[in-house]
Amino acid sequence: MAKQPPTLMDSIVSLCKRRGFIFQASEIYGGIGNTYDYGPLGVELLRRVKEAWWGAMVTERADVVGLDSAIIQNPKVWETSGHVGGFSDPMVDCKKCKGRFRADKLEDARCPEKPSKRPGECDGELTEPREFNLMFKTHVGALEGSASVAYLRPETAQGIFLNFKNVLESSRVKPPFGIAQIGKSFRNEITPGNFVFRTREFEQGEMEFFVPPDEDETWYKHWCQARFQWYIDYGIDPAKLRLREHDPKELAHYAKATSDVEYEYPFGWGELEGIANRTDFDLSRHSEATGENLVYFDPQTKEKYTPFVIEPAGGINRMALTFMIDAYEEQQLEKDTRVVLHFHPEIAPITAAIFPLVNKEGMPEKAQEVAATLRKARFSVFYDDKGAIGRRYRRQDEVGTPFCITIDGETLANDVVTVRHRDSMQQENVPIAELVPYLLEAKGNWKRP
Ligand code: GLY
Repeated sequence: MAKQPPTLMDSIVSLCKRRGFIFQASEIYGGIGNTYDYGPLGVELLRRVKEAWWGAMVTERADVVGLDSAIIQNPKVWETSGHVGGFSDPMVDCKKCKGRFRADKLEDARCPEKPSKRPGECDGELTEPREFNLMFKTHVGALEGSASVAYLRPETAQGIFLNFKNVLESSRVKPPFGIAQIGKSFRNEITPGNFVFRTREFEQGEMEFFVPPDEDETWYKHWCQARFQWYIDYGIDPAKLRLREHDPKELAHYAKATSDVEYEYPFGWGELEGIANRTDFDLSRHSEATGENLVYFDPQTKEKYTPFVIEPAGGINRMALTFMIDAYEEQQLEKDTRVVLHFHPEIAPITAAIFPLVNKEGMPEKAQEVAATLRKARFSVFYDDKGAIGRRYRRQDEVGTPFCITIDGETLANDVVTVRHRDSMQQENVPIAELVPYLLEAKGNWKRP
């Protein structure tokens, strides 16, 4: 059979490994299903995504505060929240190969023994669907028994509901206000896949926005619009984004309405983030289960109510993957093809690469000085003195570095460097004394090419 050209996903997976973004976890032991580690550039990418999210959701707003709650909570939390009873997927087993598949996703699944066939269309017979809970169980304390069972959180949201009263009483907030959290969550997904799109361990960015019950629909619309716009602001192609309202049959057990921001991935449209109207479901359930009063009393209007909650919730790893897929281009130039990631400069793992033109005449020393100045100004900098300058540009294009700064004879004579822009490949001379404000302005003026 003729060799197939690599797909876009193949190219992304290969770039991630080659350049140190993402590695298979436990690789030297043969890996562990759909679990990944983030390398030096991957961890920087995740940090940028988290900073951009936190900036828009907390720092730039007067009405949202942050939280960092525990991963393992009292197991009763998950009974009350409905996750013990209802957080499950319908699964079928193949009686022949013992493979387990999501009953509602058989269309996308492949028989492990005959990958050209779907499960059930091979020789194997499938069992009736059974509900399979997605929470990971563990044990707390020295004794293992039913009394010690605990769960790894499947969403960060519950930690926020549990602390609603603590935050209200300690932080001078009043509805409408939000509590935001970034943290790891865990789901025992049976059919994870598409690289880091769906993994068992993942980082969530979630914000629970508490509002008077009669304002829920206004705020739901606000957050749908704001979260959709956030992706565009950070450079995602608007033609590949859509907002899709859930059909009532799809709604999670806690939601009155949900819309997904979806992206058109190489493998089809998929959820990037969900915005849910969780009503007063969670606060009311926790209040009933514990006897705690989770009602808000407005001292001005004398009104008492359990706030409704609007929740924008997205996976940070999925956001990072999406930024990468959307930014990826194999650009045909006159003499060659360059691979370039057109990241927004705030998302790019490295902001500026510093190159001495040659490794002599004092250029490396000067280049190290420029690198130190930029590091001090909190730029993420990479120093590279290896190989021809053109090859150094290409190495940075491939990881999405927006600015390459070359130190040459002109720098030694007049303290002027050459700044080369990743997307246009245009070069400009900039005095070292003006370099920091120049780069800040260029970052701020960036437009998707
Ligand atoms: N809290 C919503 C979610 O985890 O999807």
